[in-house]
Amino acid sequence: MYKTLHTDVTDSIFTVTINRPDKLNALNKDVMSELSQAVDEIYENDEIRSAIITGAGTKAFVAGADISEFLGLTREQGQALSARGHDLFFRIASCPKPIAAAINGFALGGGLELAMACHFRLCTTNAKFGQPEVNLGLIPGYGGTQRLTQLIGRGRAIEIMLSARMVEATEAHVMGLVNYIVEEQNELLTKTRELLSIINEKGPVAVARIIECVNIAAGDGAFFGSAAVWEADPFGGETRVEEGGAVRNGFQREQEAFGECFGTEDMKEGAKAFLEKRKAVFTGK
Ligand code: COA
Repeated sequence: MYKTLHTDVTDSIFTVTINRPDKLNALNKDVMSELSQAVDEIYENDEIRSAIITGAGTKAFVAGADISEFLGLTREQGQALSARGHDLFFRIASCPKPIAAAINGFALGGGLELAMACHFRLCTTNAKFGQPEVNLGLIPGYGGTQRLTQLIGRGRAIEIMLSARMVEATEAHVMGLVNYIVEEQNELLTKTRELLSIINEKGPVAVARIIECVNIAAGDGAFFGSAAVWEADPFGGETRVEEGGAVRNGFQREQEAFGECFGTEDMKEGAKAFLEKRKAVFTGK
């Protein structure tokens, strides 16, 4: 069905493997468009409870956007490319079903941005992380300036983006960029599946509302609509102004979402199961 992806559903976990190992799984137009379809599947297929995004081979998760597609782009086309990447990665970040990045090697540029759009990250000891766009006279364009700052803090994020240096797995772990490191490549998917299996046993409504409220806290609370308008800035660039972009109040949203959980069968089942000293069985209702 897909040309550049391999996909599989096992035990309600959808695994998406980006499959261009000879180009270190670089994100070209085809990969981006197929990833978008795969994300639609995650949203729409009721058999899928959670997902993993990984790369084929042992060398790279994703070594960035495909640089061979950059030459010849105009300023407007560059901005449109960025906007498409933003929309796709925003859909990953705001997906109500958890999506984990399993990072098997280089996660550079758009590859790190893809990993950071996922809800959490696991990697192998040989993983290397970076935002090397500045080496190309560019900046991260698929959300990296925002998500790296959210995840590791402003000082570290700026230094990594300005220097374009590679960050080893152990440093990435200390910074909070990855949740777990595994020693061997073959443990990576096993460990990721173990973690998602634990989450898959929880009530889906509660899982979705936690993701939503945390995203608001992380700064994704402003409405991200297609009706964005741009204003000239004094340095010859432009500043994006969101129409209707009132920042949502995460504390307020948490109260509503907490109430929404009380409206589910799963919440009643969870509380009853605790009191009856048995394991809860959640149905998503
Ligand atoms: N876009 C397009 N092609 C890429 C790519 C990218 N981001 N990253 C790697 N490739 C291609 C290489 O051009 C090469 O293709 P070829 O065999 O047809 O020449 C192939 O993948 C293997 O990469 P290579 O550079 O030979 O591997 P390496 O082990 O010597 O170096 C990297 C690995 C990751 C250090 C190096 O590929 C690299 O710096 N990639 C670009 C990273 C980057 O700047 N990403 C941000 C883009 S915005």
